[in-house]
Amino acid sequence: MLRTEGLTIRFGGLTALNNVNFQIGRGEIRAIIGPNGAGKSTFFNCVTGVLRPTSGRILLNGADITGLSPNLISRAGVARSYQITNILPNATTMENVRIAAQSRRHGWNMLRHYSSFRDIAEKAESVLASVGLAAKADELASNLSHGEQRNLEIGIALATEPQLLCLDEPTAGMSAAETHDTIQLVREIAKNLTILIVEHDMPLVMDLADRITVFHYGEILAEGPPAEIQNNPRVLEVYLKT
Ligand SMILES: Nc1ncnc2c1ncn2[C@@H]1O[C@H](COP(=O)(O)OP(=O)(O)OP(=O)(O)O)[C@@H](O)[C@H]1O
Ligand SMILES: [Mg+2]
Repeated sequence: MLRTEGLTIRFGGLTALNNVNFQIGRGEIRAIIGPNGAGKSTFFNCVTGVLRPTSGRILLNGADITGLSPNLISRAGVARSYQITNILPNATTMENVRIAAQSRRHGWNMLRHYSSFRDIAEKAESVLASVGLAAKADELASNLSHGEQRNLEIGIALATEPQLLCLDEPTAGMSAAETHDTIQLVREIAKNLTILIVEHDMPLVMDLADRITVFHYGEILAEGPPAEIQNNPRVLEVYLKT
């Protein structure tokens, strides 16, 4: 579904991604792990069009999406949540999701049609239910708990009807109970799409992911099923022991 070829990005003298050749198949849950500054978020930023790579290519279902705007990449079917919560605090929970659904479904000029309103409203409602926020639909997003805001962000991503969902530390700052619920949510939505997830909690990653890719200094250090990664001596040295 997604492939990168020689993906490289430099910030001045810093090579944040160096010749990354990455592949993920449809329906997979792939975890990306690695030390702070390894390039995990930068990888997501390149894949979702937030940053333009210095060189290399990004292919989605074989089509070259390198350098496209975030908006076009979203329309092509890639959504992401941010490491830092990225919602509209002064809009309601429902409005946050509805705006995302609109961006996917219709151009603004189509909104005058009653049927498209209903279409979007139904989509937004089903998304809110799937992320467990139906009861908070009319609450201002700023009034949600931290964990609810993070789940809302997943809802915003889902409302764009992605094929590939990139989650950057979705459980950051969550309590153990919230983390458990969010991972259950990820498992549930993974039934219908492909997931790339950056997550620091190792036991959780080992349990969730089909395969794990380990980034280190902007390069792929190792890749494989959890049991293999867990026992990879190079991975243990740079990451799992620290
Ligand atoms: N826009 C930018 N401009 C300059 N340097 C950047 C930019 N974005 C990231 N970097 C640098 O690129 C490197 C990779 O950063 P990145 O945020 O991708 O790491 P990460 O693996 O997500 O780390 P963490 O686990 O802390 O989130 C770091 O050295 C970072 O300082
Ligand atoms: Mg990061």
